[in-house]
Amino acid sequence: MGEFVRVEVADQIATIRLDRPKMNALNAHVQGEIAEAAGQVSADPAVAAVILYGGERVFAAGADIKEMADLGYADMAERSARLQASFSAVAQIPKPVVAAVTGYALGGGLELALCADFRVLGESAKVGQPEILLGIIPGAGGTQRLPRLIGPSKAKDLIFSGRHVTAAEALSMGLADAVVPDAEVYSAARAMVARYAGGPAMALRAAKQAVDTGLEVDLGTGLEIERLQFAALFATEDQKAGMRSFIDSGPGKATFTGR
Ligand code: CAA
Repeated sequence: MGEFVRVEVADQIATIRLDRPKMNALNAHVQGEIAEAAGQVSADPAVAAVILYGGERVFAAGADIKEMADLGYADMAERSARLQASFSAVAQIPKPVVAAVTGYALGGGLELALCADFRVLGESAKVGQPEILLGIIPGAGGTQRLPRLIGPSKAKDLIFSGRHVTAAEALSMGLADAVVPDAEVYSAARAMVARYAGGPAMALRAAKQAVDTGLEVDLGTGLEIERLQFAALFATEDQKAGMRSFIDSGPGKATFTGR
């Protein structure tokens, strides 16, 4: 249990809860706790899926500007590596991950949400990459994960201008997967991943790794990654259970062990 980041597990769903009032500013300490939380939920076989959540008011307003303001190059060269490693630990959680976004997700806040597989936004949420207004650029994956998700020109618009995007616009550009009433953000995110409890964990892990790693390589290499992951699943109990259940009882009735 961290000082500003808690992991709460219920019904096989882990919630990584940011709790650093007023705005969940992501200082170095919080970044370290996010990495620890990501490692914990990744390693816990009782966790089937993960929700990133900042509470009812705000997701996160970005890296802690007050902590960074007086740093020089040498400091930031080292700190930025830890910042990226922390967020990459979230992106590499080998389970379905959804970000439940209320209020602001700005700068590092949006970059953290980009490490999830899906994003559910409250209807009054505002997201953006306002770093340019501070004389810097995104440093926790924004120039890389955002264009991969929404395309380079839309990403450049957000990164060059620093403007805030409404939930409705985020939905239209594929940055949000669902927009719901503000009070329902957490429950909607939970409903989105609840279906993975009791799921074929090894196949879900393989699917996520094949998609994410495949996007970073040429098509031939990606297909080879897929082929190896596909063949490897024939070593799992869940493949045997899934196919036997289909033959005996029809589609969608298998009980999986996650092994
Ligand atoms: N770092 C440190 N403190 C922050 C913060 C941040 N990113 N964002 C907000 N705060 C603090 C404010 O300074 C203020 O503190 P005090 O009450 O002690 O004065 C408190 O949180 C509340 O903020 P506001 O009074 O500004 O609240 P608001 O409702 O008027 O505005 C906001 C909210 C639009 C989020 C505004 O605070 C804001 O624009 N924040 C900065 C957003 C930003 O630039 N994020 C990018 C950070 S750089 C980054 O993230 C780099 C990277 O890529 C990793």
